[in-house]
Amino acid sequence: MNKAKRKVVIAGNWKMNFTPSEATAFINEVKPLVAGKNGCEVVFCAPYVTIAAAQAAAQGSNISIGAENVHFAEKGAYTGEVSAKMLTECGVKYVIIGHSERRQYFGETDATVNARTKAALEAGMTVILCLGEVKEQRLSGITREIVSMQTKLDLEGVTAEQMKNVIIAYEPVWAIGTGLTATPEQADETCGQIRDALAEIYGRDVAEATTIQYGGSMNEKNAAELLAKPNVDGGLIGGASLVAEKFKAIVDAAQ
Ligand code: 13P
Repeated sequence: MNKAKRKVVIAGNWKMNFTPSEATAFINEVKPLVAGKNGCEVVFCAPYVTIAAAQAAAQGSNISIGAENVHFAEKGAYTGEVSAKMLTECGVKYVIIGHSERRQYFGETDATVNARTKAALEAGMTVILCLGEVKEQRLSGITREIVSMQTKLDLEGVTAEQMKNVIIAYEPVWAIGTGLTATPEQADETCGQIRDALAEIYGRDVAEATTIQYGGSMNEKNAAELLAKPNVDGGLIGGASLVAEKFKAIVDAAQ
């Protein structure tokens, strides 16, 4: 399978931005700008309390609303957490798991990322699984080893069938929120290394069918070049997903 057959997904990660009323205003602004852009799926992942407002505003449009995390247990004594069943009952299909900010600030490990991924998949959700190297790892030349290891650990026990509902977001940690972007060549090379790791686990067909996004300071200026690369099947966008015109330009670049 070549790139043309893979699903292209442009997803915004709002992080801890937008109250419900702000989300409503933003979706109302961006909705007409991305209407009819069928060359990619359009998703915004929102803080839990903002999801319902964003969904209401997005109703009837080509925009899907996702979550930014999910817990691995079905229910129980996990104060502050939200289960996959809670999300699916709210009509949430997409969920980001393993974002580097969760790994960095909230103690997420490959083991918890793996547990959350399996719980979300078992509930029928589509997972946007984030992974990527930190700056020191890139400088030491071990990026391939790091992303291969994360791919294997984060997907342990996930079946080839379930991989249909997994999107991988390659997010070099040094490029997130820093204004530094991986070059299109670096993004393409590392997405290809992740695809190689998938091929080792699941075989080439599954690897070639899996959507692999790039994330890390993707914006209206660099999106076209990044998205043109053969291994880059979309973007996971932070800062530029909070500005309707910038996000629209990225969606346009994906057409
Ligand atoms: P920025 O686009 O703000 O660098 O954030 C990227 C990101 O972390 C998306 O998940």
